[in-house]
Amino acid sequence: MGSSEDGEGPADGSTSPGLCNCDNVTDEVMQTLTNLLAAFDPTAPLGRAETPPAGWYTRDDVHARELATVWRRCYRVVARLGEVASAGRFVGGSRPGLSWLVTRGEDGALRAFHNTCRHKGTVLVEGVGEGAVTCPYHGWRYALDGALRSAPRAAGIEALAGRRLALPPLALSTWGPLVLVAPEPAPPPPDVAAPEVHAAFVAAGMDGLVHWGRHSWDVACNWKVFVDNYLDGGYHVAIAHPGLAGQLDLDAYETRVYARSSLQTAGGADARIGGGALYGWLYPNIMLNRYGPVLDVNVVYPTGPRTCRVLFDYWFTPDALADEAFVAASVASSVATQEEDVALCERVQRGLEGSGYERGPYAPRVEAAMHAFHKLLAADLAGDDGV
Ligand code: FES
Ligand SMILES: [Fe+2]
Repeated sequence: MGSSEDGEGPADGSTSPGLCNCDNVTDEVMQTLTNLLAAFDPTAPLGRAETPPAGWYTRDDVHARELATVWRRCYRVVARLGEVASAGRFVGGSRPGLSWLVTRGEDGALRAFHNTCRHKGTVLVEGVGEGAVTCPYHGWRYALDGALRSAPRAAGIEALAGRRLALPPLALSTWGPLVLVAPEPAPPPPDVAAPEVHAAFVAAGMDGLVHWGRHSWDVACNWKVFVDNYLDGGYHVAIAHPGLAGQLDLDAYETRVYARSSLQTAGGADARIGGGALYGWLYPNIMLNRYGPVLDVNVVYPTGPRTCRVLFDYWFTPDALADEAFVAASVASSVATQEEDVALCERVQRGLEGSGYERGPYAPRVEAAMHAFHKLLAADLAGDDGV
């Protein structure tokens, strides 16, 4: 273990001023949403700062507030360009707070719409398809430019005239092989919001990669626990990921924090990692991992206040994809690391839901990106919800 210079805390085991006062925990649980959001001080310097209180990770009202603010103001990764590569193709889905339909029109244009039927709000498309979009409920049909084309037995609805019942558009962007959508007004796209991360991944190569497949996990933790775990600057790697630790040169681990993103880099010590690992995060929930010939895109989104879903999509260079043994070993290693992270995150959530913990400090040498994440969250949660 490191020396006191590593910031390991008082040797006498005393807690720092301002950390958990467990006598107050019951009062804290009863506090209003406003007080709870104000309990995180984004102005405190990193060495004195404390994390958001546990209620940010457990409460229904915080989750509802996030849906009205954080998730209304960001681009979300919803599809792969390959799913809508040819004219006439479309892909749709839904997550809490957003449903989307991405189409490739006969004119070749990529468009995005809210994926809800204008009749009764049914989610129109779940998965990929081709041709016209037909609602599975009463059969209304939409063209790929969002126009309502036909509505069986619907004569007499005055709003059927013109485009008044067209699907409302979503803002759309692409990033390498990814398709992203956002409610209007469009937030800055990734290359504008995170130019440093964009440049690093373009330099590593985002084009010409081939999608291998996806693994997904339903995790019993708040989505922010998963992001926090990703942004701890490699702090837990040596302790909790013995396999990964053997593939990385942790002495060369670095974190750089930017306005709405961060980059973590580590040296490579084996064939899978190659020359090193590049971990890019874009607020709030997009994580790009590049190592050797592999691009591994992680997205986490809430499925409730205390649960989330994590998606891992893997791309390989064509040469690497042809090496089946390499691909199998690479994905297996990634999955093993993720299983370790899932166990850690669920364990953190159980602790957050107990009565003995309210908030903790940051380790300044490694957890600066996590602190930046919490400051961005605080700004979003405190702001006008815009609806
Ligand atoms: S809800 Fe779509 S046609 Fe009725
Ligand atoms: Fe991890």
